[in-house]
Amino acid sequence: MEVFLDNVNKGLKKQTHSESIVKCFPTYVQDLPNGTETGKFLALDLGGTNFRVLLIELSHEHFEMKSKIFAIPQHIMLGSGEQLFDHIAECLAIFVKEEKVADQRLPLGFTFSFPLSQKGLTIGYLERWTKGFNCSNVVGNDVVQMLNEAIDRRGDVEIEICAILNDTTGTLMSCAWKNRSTRIGLIVGTGSNTCYVEKQENAETWNDVNMGSGNVLINSEWGAFGDDGALDFVRTEYDEDIDRNSVNPTKQKHEKMISGMYMGELVRLALERFTKEGLLFGGKGSDMLFERGRFYTKYVSEIESDAPGVFNNLREICEELGLKHATEQDYINIRYICECISRRSAHLVSAGLATLLNKMGEKKVTIGIDGSVYRFHPHFHNLMMEKIKELADPSIEFDLMLSEDGSGRGAALVAAVAARLQKEKK
Ligand code: BG6
Ligand code: GLC
Repeated sequence: MEVFLDNVNKGLKKQTHSESIVKCFPTYVQDLPNGTETGKFLALDLGGTNFRVLLIELSHEHFEMKSKIFAIPQHIMLGSGEQLFDHIAECLAIFVKEEKVADQRLPLGFTFSFPLSQKGLTIGYLERWTKGFNCSNVVGNDVVQMLNEAIDRRGDVEIEICAILNDTTGTLMSCAWKNRSTRIGLIVGTGSNTCYVEKQENAETWNDVNMGSGNVLINSEWGAFGDDGALDFVRTEYDEDIDRNSVNPTKQKHEKMISGMYMGELVRLALERFTKEGLLFGGKGSDMLFERGRFYTKYVSEIESDAPGVFNNLREICEELGLKHATEQDYINIRYICECISRRSAHLVSAGLATLLNKMGEKKVTIGIDGSVYRFHPHFHNLMMEKIKELADPSIEFDLMLSEDGSGRGAALVAAVAARLQKEKK
C-alpha cells in the first residue's frame, strides 16, 4: 500500500509524471451526474469482453438503452489501427441505420478502455495497448481523430463525438447516477483498473481552467503497477511465465496478477507444474491441460461456486479437459489452487482500493464496480469486503456496488454532463 501510494503521488505530480509507472491521467471529467441529464445519446464500448454499440435515452431518473454486440476478430485486434477504426465505424453505421437514427447527428460517448493521455474531453492520445490488443500505428495518436477519420472515409453517418472515457470512468459515472456517494470506479474484468475523484489542486498535470466542482476524475491505470519491479517480492514463477508469453511482456504486471485475462492461465500453470511433479492426477495430465489458454477463467468461478466438499462443476471441467482419472484428493487440491489465485487477486485489488480510500479522506464512499471477475466469481465481493475493512481507516464507511448496465450509460452521462455544463455557461 505504501509503495502504491507513492506511485499514485508520482503520477499526479508534474515533475515525476513522465517517469511514473502508475500514470494517474486526469480525465477531463469534473462533474458527477445530478439526475437532471436528459437526451438521446450514442455510445461505443471497446476494450472489455464485448465490443458494443449503444443508443441511450436519458430522461430525469429514467433511462432506456438498446445495444448490439459486435465481434472484433483476432486479426483486427492485432492488425493496423486503420483497420480497427474502419471496423468500429462500420459497426456504428450498421447500428444507427438499424435503429433509424442515422440522420440525427446524435452526440456520442466513446468508452475506450486503454490508457489515454488526454488533452481535452474529446482528445486522447494512446499511451500503450493493453490486454489482447496490439494494433499498429495507434500509440501516440489521438484515437478520437482516428475514429472521426474512419467515419469520414465512409461518409454515410453523421456523429458528433462529445467525450472519450475509460471504462472505470463510465462505471463510476453510471453508479454515481444512482448513488451520489460513488467516488471510485473499479474494473475487475479482462483487465483491471480504477478511477477516483481527486482534488483539482493535487492533479498537477491537469492545467485546464476550473469549470466545475474543483475536483477531477483520475484514471489511475493501476494495471501497470509493478512494471519497474515494485511487485517482484510477491511475483511467482507463474506470473513470470504469463508475462513472458503475453503480447505485452514486462508491461501491466499488477493487472496480470489480478484480471480475468490471466487468472485461468495462472491456475493452469500451477496445475501443469504439480502434475509434472507427480502431485496431481497420478502424474498423468492431458493434452488440453498442457495447452496454453485452455483453462478458462470462468472455470475458476464455476469451481468455487460448488458448495464446500461438493465437486459437481469441477468434475465436469475435469472431464472436459480429458482428466477423467482425477480423484477426490485432486479435486480438493485443484479447488485450493483456484482459491489461492482468486484470493490473491481480491487482496491486491483491496490493498489498492484501501490506499485510495485512505488518501481521499472522505467519510463515506461507494465504489462502483464492473467486470466479469467481480460479477461472476462467487466470493470475490466478500473477499474484498473483508480485506478492505482490515486495511482501510476504520472511520471510513464504504460499500461496493455492482454496475448494472456497463459503462455505456456512463458514456452517455459524460456526454450529457458536458452538454449540461455548456448550456449553464451560456
Ligand atoms: C463492462 C463495460 O460492463 O465491463 C466495459 O461496459 C468494460 O466497458 C467491462 O470494459 C469490463 O469487463 P470485462 O469483463 O468485459 O472486461
Ligand atoms: C486495462 C486498460 C485500462 C482499463 C482496464 C479495464 O488495464 O489499460 O484502461 O480500464 O484494462 O478494462
